[in-house]
Amino acid sequence: MQKSALITGILGQDGPYLAELLLGKGYKVYGLMRRYSSPHYDNLNFLGIMDKIEFVEGDLTDESSLINIIKNVRPTEVYNLAAQSFVGSSWEQAKLTTEINALGVLSLLNTIKFNSPTSKFYQASTSEMFGLGNDGGYQDEKTSFHPRSPYGISKVYAYWMTVNFRESYGLFAANGILFNHESPLRGIQFVTRKITDGVARIKLGLTKSISLGNLDAKRDWGFAGDYVEAMYLMLQEKEPDDYVIGTGAYHSVKDVVDLAFKEIGVSDWKKYVVIDPRYKRPAEVPHLRARIDKAKNKLGWQPKVTFKELIKMMVKADLKRLQKK
Ligand code: NAP
Ligand code: GDD
Repeated sequence: MQKSALITGILGQDGPYLAELLLGKGYKVYGLMRRYSSPHYDNLNFLGIMDKIEFVEGDLTDESSLINIIKNVRPTEVYNLAAQSFVGSSWEQAKLTTEINALGVLSLLNTIKFNSPTSKFYQASTSEMFGLGNDGGYQDEKTSFHPRSPYGISKVYAYWMTVNFRESYGLFAANGILFNHESPLRGIQFVTRKITDGVARIKLGLTKSISLGNLDAKRDWGFAGDYVEAMYLMLQEKEPDDYVIGTGAYHSVKDVVDLAFKEIGVSDWKKYVVIDPRYKRPAEVPHLRARIDKAKNKLGWQPKVTFKELIKMMVKADLKRLQKK
């Protein structure tokens, strides 16, 4: 029988890459999207898969819409990628962030439990849950959480609720604790894309500078296309479990700037970068770096695209996109 998957967050960054992977494996893919006055299909169109998705309308904050969808579709697998995912906005919109990222997940879990308990469930958990927590400079499945933003806190709630539904009701529910992953489909507010888009605009004479916040923060950046494969693998395991997914290496925001400017032949980028306190956060997560032994050993997963290749890919894609316009 054909397998089916419901992907929430289908119009974001990870949704289209995951949909592409599952379609390639013969899944029927349902994509949950909110009601928009002007829907935006750019990311699905970028991968050329928009026509292959069956769209269903719903919202994580509206449980009745989730019940309708889960009852009708009864998907083999549910990938919950929907979220208010921008850390920076989570201080100004803490309640909304909580309603979507925390209570929305509780609604989805309850909906599955009562209407389709054999559906396997993937929760998009995050390295932001670790925050200041680390273990010798790395974070893995045993590292304690010390979130630093309303976003991180909302995701800790969802993480534990996912574990709890597994332990209390026997649902096949898994957390992927993913470190930062990027791509040409990354939202424009996130720092890598903001930099690669800015650099491409400077190259084409469309702008003179990029405004940034803390250049010293370090992140473990990987390629989204590699990470969706890990999501899929987690739901193919015999038993549900939680996995850290990253590269094991970290770099500073300054390193991203450096590489991106090198791509357009600029080595002294200081005159193009303005430090703007508006982009600094009330509480920063100074560094995140994954220890991925469990994913390597149990899932047989490891990243393929390097940090350098990733930034190069993003600058190229932004140049192409802007030149087309
Ligand atoms: P993204 O590009 O921001 O996509 C999130 C999607 O969620 C958007 O399409 C958004 O819809 C949708 N959404 C937001 N609120 C919703 C609601 N109330 N009901 C239904 N849909 C809603 O995020 P991403 O980078 O693909 O990340 C996917 C997931 O992984 C997120 O949960 C994120 O928190 C988590 N995560 C991401 C990373 C990373 O580095 N990318 C790392 C760890 C965890 P609109 O299109 O309407 O805005
Ligand atoms: N966005 C942004 N804009 N970040 C900046 C800027 C700027 O102008 N200047 C410096 N930064 C720093 C931030 O302070 C942060 O330390 C780092 O760059 C990365 O910021 P983002 O790209 O916004 O990502 P994030 O790490 O906060 O969150 C992303 O990764 C999480 C996983 O660790 C998001 O995708 C989250 O949804 C995800 O959970």
